[in-house]
Amino acid sequence: MLRLGIAGIGIAAEQVLPNIGSIADTVRLTAVADVRAEALRAFGVRHPGVELFDSVEALCASDAVDVVWIATPNEYHAAHAVLAADHGKHVVCEKPMATTIEQCNAIVAAVEAAGVKYVQGHSKIYYSVLRRMREVIKSGELGRVTQINTWNFNDWLIRPRTPAEERTDLGTGPVFRQAPHQVDIVRYLAGSPVSSVRAVTARREAGSPETESDYTALLTFEDGAAATLVFNAQGYFDIVDLTWGIGESGYRTLDPGSIRPAERRAPMPAEEKWRFQREGDPYGRGRDGGEDKRSLRKPPFFGLTIVHCERGVVRQSPDGIFVYDREGRRELACGAGYLRGAAELMELADALAGEREPFLDAAWGRATLEVCVAILESGAQRRELTLNYQFPANAVGTW
Ligand SMILES: NC(=O)c1ccc[n+]([C@@H]2O[C@H](COP(=O)([O-])OP(=O)(O)OC[C@H]3O[C@@H](n4cnc5c(N)ncnc54)[C@H](O)[C@@H]3O)[C@@H](O)[C@H]2O)c1
Repeated sequence: MLRLGIAGIGIAAEQVLPNIGSIADTVRLTAVADVRAEALRAFGVRHPGVELFDSVEALCASDAVDVVWIATPNEYHAAHAVLAADHGKHVVCEKPMATTIEQCNAIVAAVEAAGVKYVQGHSKIYYSVLRRMREVIKSGELGRVTQINTWNFNDWLIRPRTPAEERTDLGTGPVFRQAPHQVDIVRYLAGSPVSSVRAVTARREAGSPETESDYTALLTFEDGAAATLVFNAQGYFDIVDLTWGIGESGYRTLDPGSIRPAERRAPMPAEEKWRFQREGDPYGRGRDGGEDKRSLRKPPFFGLTIVHCERGVVRQSPDGIFVYDREGRRELACGAGYLRGAAELMELADALAGEREPFLDAAWGRATLEVCVAILESGAQRRELTLNYQFPANAVGTW
């Protein structure tokens, strides 16, 4: 039994918590920490028996915790991950791993020195459909991967946020918060190490001038493959209109064609953001979140990812994946798999039982962060950049 402590009980923690029940024979929540006293008090009422700490340091020092899930803002990830490792705790950390390569190196060193495991949390490659796509690619039936295009458009920039949460210089904004998903997807499916990044980033949203509203990145891989990563956070158009109405939760979106196109929400004071969360509407889309929660839950989508190989194509379908080859199109069904939270903790449990490193270990998180930083730097410098910490996804783990 792994005893779990969560650092930071905000929106990310609330996404993780409901799914931990599905692995109750492996993981038990024993403690949480936050700097907001009122949030801790309310959490204690909803989760009696869970220890409440007012600092991450106290949580890490607790004897009732084996693994610390870091769900504090990005700028604290490195300090909190190092604290946890230094106290001999395993670490699961929300994306991005940290906000600079130096911070990633500090985490890698702390985890190695303590002999604990690090699992990169909240990656879309835990989705069963991406694992299924990878299986087809790895089987070799379609030949080598030649081209990956992954696109996502959502309302990231107009969700209820504080001004500090829309500042690239504080390690947040669409590249730090959303690009890790797309980078993980293309690194995983391509298999080959990323060689270079050329990107364009732009700040177009009047109310949010401190961060980018969109990015377009071209990645090249050592084996000659290429990928485009395209993202727009302005919320005028949501990709679910192209993915059968299915988004990140797996529930059908009620009206994919008109997701509050007129609502332009500027950054707001913290109290106002927390009011949205208390009212069960953290993304500010209305109480139902714009989704039909009674619909059958499908494998979740993170935008549209189309993988071209030498002799065919794979992409996600409503119930699994589509494979296109000389015979035409066929659908391979795929279950929903472990949900966010449960997937990362089961990967940790499996790694501990098998005395292996997690697939998404600290080196994985660092390689993804390096690409994200390169997207920002390439956008600023208007030139192609090469990388230092990449390695082939083909070579690691059991996936
Ligand atoms: N919002 C999302 O949809 C979402 C989804 C997935 C992952 N994430 C990731 O989760 C992390 C947190 O994002 P969030 O949206 O949940 O933010 P949030 O603001 O909702 O929650 C962060 C929590 O951390 C607490 N906190 C801040 N500083 C702290 C400190 N020094 N010590 C202890 N607690 C502290 C805050 O009080 C808050 O409760 C980020 O890394 C983000 O990238 C967010």
